[in-house]
Amino acid sequence: MTDTASAAAQAPAAYQGPARVLSGIQPSGALHLGNYLGAIVKFVKLQDEMECLYCVVDLHAITAWQEPAKLAAQTREIAAAYLASGVDPKKAIIFPQSAVLAHAELGWILQCVARLGWLDRMTQFKDKAGKHKERESVGLYTYPVLQAADILVYKATHVPVGEDQRQHLELTRDIAAKFNHDFDAPGFFPLPEAMVEGPGARIMSLRDGSAKMSKSDPSDYSRINLMDDADAIAQKVRKARTDPEPLPDNVEALALRPEADNLVGIYGALAGLTKAEVLARFGGEGFGRFKPELADMAVARLAPIGAEMRRLLDDPAEIDRVLADGAEKATALAAPVIDETRRHVGFWRPGG
Ligand code: AMP
Ligand code: TRP
Repeated sequence: MTDTASAAAQAPAAYQGPARVLSGIQPSGALHLGNYLGAIVKFVKLQDEMECLYCVVDLHAITAWQEPAKLAAQTREIAAAYLASGVDPKKAIIFPQSAVLAHAELGWILQCVARLGWLDRMTQFKDKAGKHKERESVGLYTYPVLQAADILVYKATHVPVGEDQRQHLELTRDIAAKFNHDFDAPGFFPLPEAMVEGPGARIMSLRDGSAKMSKSDPSDYSRINLMDDADAIAQKVRKARTDPEPLPDNVEALALRPEADNLVGIYGALAGLTKAEVLARFGGEGFGRFKPELADMAVARLAPIGAEMRRLLDDPAEIDRVLADGAEKATALAAPVIDETRRHVGFWRPGG
């Protein structure tokens, strides 16, 4: 055998299965513009291109305390946001993560594949746990392994997420590769790709251009929520932090102006324009003129989504039908993967 042939023989076999999309959002608080532009907008686009599964990751949500009396309603609210934004249950499978037991089952198996050293590097855990990590739930620490299970239990190949999830997707690939290697199952799990690109991958706080827009920011003025009404949206844009300079006429000049950069990026993401195109329109203008335009654009895009969410949540029967139907379809897709996984691990199976 020549060197090249032996190298090819040792290279892990590439995954041969079909392209499939999976993503999820936690039902742990109101959805905001960052979730919408970083994730949901991509969910809507992808449903016409590939088979898609979108879950509401309630198992992930309980890594931090969730009021039991509210959790189901929060889950319906995320489902309502998917539907109101244009995810079509005839095209994509929408379901609650906890209703498909295979996530937790594969999650456990993958906890035994992932290494402590890999999890120790996860920056999201460090950010969330802060100084007192010993007081956090064990689940918060192993959270990224469950995320890997969410993806791999459907052999999903593409994962639309915001920039902050890049590291978790790298970990998912490492876990998939180690499973395939350890159990001598080349090409069994795909090495999924994060789909991060896009103008909304990292939307920043309206109060601080260096902090991510986030559900957990104590100031409601830091974010635009999907359920905010037109007045609230306009007021938050008006109060958004800026600097005293007018908008520049080129993108490079935004580099040291994080708040201006963020608002220009948000306008562009909402309007379907690049930052350069936004600046071609507004360069030289002060925020006094730009902010009302931004508010109008945000209201035009978001107010109808909020209104449709309110309509759906008023009578949750429709949402519940979508979630139950989605859970059934997702369970059926996960079943053969779990079965094969059990075989690879060597668990007892009747007659096996
Ligand atoms: P989470 O709210 O943490 O469950 O996030 C749900 C999705 O929204 C993930 O794909 C995140 O990457 C994305 N996301 C959250 N915050 C932002 C943000 N500020 N900008 C862009 N995407 C975000
Ligand atoms: N960790 C993701 C977040 O905080 C949510 C999530 C859980 C997820 N499981 C997933 C995203 C699977 C994509 C795929 O945003």
